[in-house]
Amino acid sequence: MIIILFNKTGTEMTLILAFEDYLPQAEKLAFCLSLPIKQVNLHQFPDGETKVTLPAELPKNIIICRSLNHPNDKLIELIITASAAREQGVKYITLVAPYLCYMRQDIAFKTGEAISQKIIGKLLSDYFDSVITVDPHLHRIDNLAEAIPNNAAITLHASHAISTFLQQKFKNPIIIGPDEESEQWVKAIATPQQWQYTIATKQRYSDTKVDVSFSERDLNKNTMLNLAGQDIIIVDDIASTGKTLEQAVIQIKQQNPKSISVIVTHAFFVDSAIKQLNNLGVNNIWSSDSIPHPSNAFSIIDTVATQLKIDGAS
Ligand code: R5P
Repeated sequence: MIIILFNKTGTEMTLILAFEDYLPQAEKLAFCLSLPIKQVNLHQFPDGETKVTLPAELPKNIIICRSLNHPNDKLIELIITASAAREQGVKYITLVAPYLCYMRQDIAFKTGEAISQKIIGKLLSDYFDSVITVDPHLHRIDNLAEAIPNNAAITLHASHAISTFLQQKFKNPIIIGPDEESEQWVKAIATPQQWQYTIATKQRYSDTKVDVSFSERDLNKNTMLNLAGQDIIIVDDIASTGKTLEQAVIQIKQQNPKSISVIVTHAFFVDSAIKQLNNLGVNNIWSSDSIPHPSNAFSIIDTVATQLKIDGAS
């Protein structure tokens, strides 16, 4: 991987390219890495096309920092940006996309369904030399490089940031994952702190219909869990419709915990998801700044900066 943060004379520093919709996070990344930052300007034409204007001068190495929620527009804008940057002589382009889109459709469930994960992964690989993301939804594959077949496809995790955040809020919470995929994050958060945890079983019937059920067994200690009077934290990677969290909350409430909080890496919370969770009496709804959302409570940009420092130094 050739992310050069700065050369020996400091004359050819890597530049961070930012977009308005993810500017505070890009500015934070630039600050953490002591790198210059410039903005890409977008103009929407009346017909729906976008005019993309890059800074007039670009160094050989750039980092484009933009999360890929609202992916359909953003992917086109990123491809135009990367191509225009190459025209200007840029040699190495890193994409920092804390939320990576189209990772969930990783197989064809029915004949004819496109496997978007592979298609979009290949597209990113064609335009970016390295891609860095946080907790991509890799269900049936272990390695992001299987989806983005380029030299450097790096997966970071929000678990450290989540754990640090939770330690400031609770002394001894019980951590719950709403489905089997969440076990990796739940374990990473709970085990170092010796917090109790368990994982529920989820059955999905449609975009908005899921069932969540609990074994009520502490997987760490293999004992029965008593949630009554405890601070419960439900951890997941993504909240989209919020139905997974909602169903988990409904089950947990039956055991009369002291409080129920939810914390996710990527916050979509579409439509009335936040309202529904509030109506269920959820005490706290927290997310990382991977996607700008009113629930953002902690940042994953330090995690990204640490990775870039390691890569830049090697
Ligand atoms: C799925 O396996 C993910 O980890 C999330 O649980 C899921 O994407 C959440 O979706 P929703 O909020 O629509 O239930």
